Amino acid sequence: MYTLRELAAGFQVSERTLTRKLEVGELRGYKVGHQWRVRGRDWLEYTGAVSGPRVFVVANAKGGAGKSTFTTNLAVLRAQQGKRVLLLDLDPQGHLATLLNMSVDPDRTTVQLLNEELRLPRNAPGSRERWHTLWTDLLQSVPGAGEHDALSRILLVPAHNDLADLERANFHRTKPIEYALREALDALGTLGVDVDEVWIDTPPNLGPLTRNALMAAHYVVSPFAKSDLGLDGLERLMILVEQYLEFNPYLRVAGLVMNYGNPRTIMHNEIRDTIRTRPSLAPYLLDTYVSEAERFNQAPRLGLPLVLAEPSSSSTQELRRVLEEVDTRVQ
Ligand SMILES: Nc1ncnc2c1ncn2[C@@H]1O[C@H](COP(=O)(O)OP(=O)(O)OP(=O)(O)O)[C@@H](O)[C@H]1O
Ligand SMILES: [Mg+2]
Repeated sequence: MYTLRELAAGFQVSERTLTRKLEVGELRGYKVGHQWRVRGRDWLEYTGAVSGPRVFVVANAKGGAGKSTFTTNLAVLRAQQGKRVLLLDLDPQGHLATLLNMSVDPDRTTVQLLNEELRLPRNAPGSRERWHTLWTDLLQSVPGAGEHDALSRILLVPAHNDLADLERANFHRTKPIEYALREALDALGTLGVDVDEVWIDTPPNLGPLTRNALMAAHYVVSPFAKSDLGLDGLERLMILVEQYLEFNPYLRVAGLVMNYGNPRTIMHNEIRDTIRTRPSLAPYLLDTYVSEAERFNQAPRLGLPLVLAEPSSSSTQELRRVLEEVDTRVQ
């Protein structure tokens, strides 16, 4: 539920304009006393965000859980199905570019995408052109697109270490801080860029960058390593998702996926049993897990995501099953 002040601050429209739209029924809302309130769903419908590409965020507060590995490989598998996929890296570590063997131009990254100074109110004169110029500049093909059909359907906006500075400085200046990505993706939707799905990699924390992704996403996929500490990160993420439902009612958990699985170990089975006893996690645990396999560490040296470098490996099959199971849950 939003107040007009929140909408005005978050989306850079005036409260007067919003009031007018509410009064003529262009935007749905209702009054509490003299104050208008707008439901998140009504706002998203109004902004047209619902009709854009499906947006997946891969998140976990814990480092090394497999976020970047999953983001890259699931996006490539999706592109193999013929979908056009946009990869966005919101982790200052910038691992998506590494995994896709791409060198990063520091002037063409998610830093520019989220940087407030570059943004204009959505309906301001020249805003569309400015967004068009920005997105056109930032969307980049990945190496190997000429040889691999799937890679030709992938666009990447890589990350740069400066994202960490942006997180510290810029994001704390105006409130609310979490709308920058939502706004950028809304703008992308209006430019007619041909993208079916967006996959977002996030840093190993639940700070402003991950929150931006939760504000913009429809589905959360969360790989986790098999340890008790891993579960702690998952529970914190689930609490945050619950809170964000108020601002982004389309947010759903598409799956918690065990990574580094090995059913012959006690830990593997104990962790799965523990999850099944926790109401905040149990409904989302995927049957499929991804086994621990040395080939994941070698893939970056081959210059290709694992699912392309080793298409018939057991790890590729497992990742394919993860995507299938995610799909049965999001349909
Ligand atoms: N199933 C697996 N078996 C073995 N190694 C794996 C597996 N999954 C990922 N790895 C390796 O573990 C390391 C961490 O994976 P990855 O970078 O995807 O995690 P992350 O969650 O993105 O980490 P960070 O939080 O630092 O961004 C990488 O070197 C990756 O190759
Ligand atoms: Mg990562």
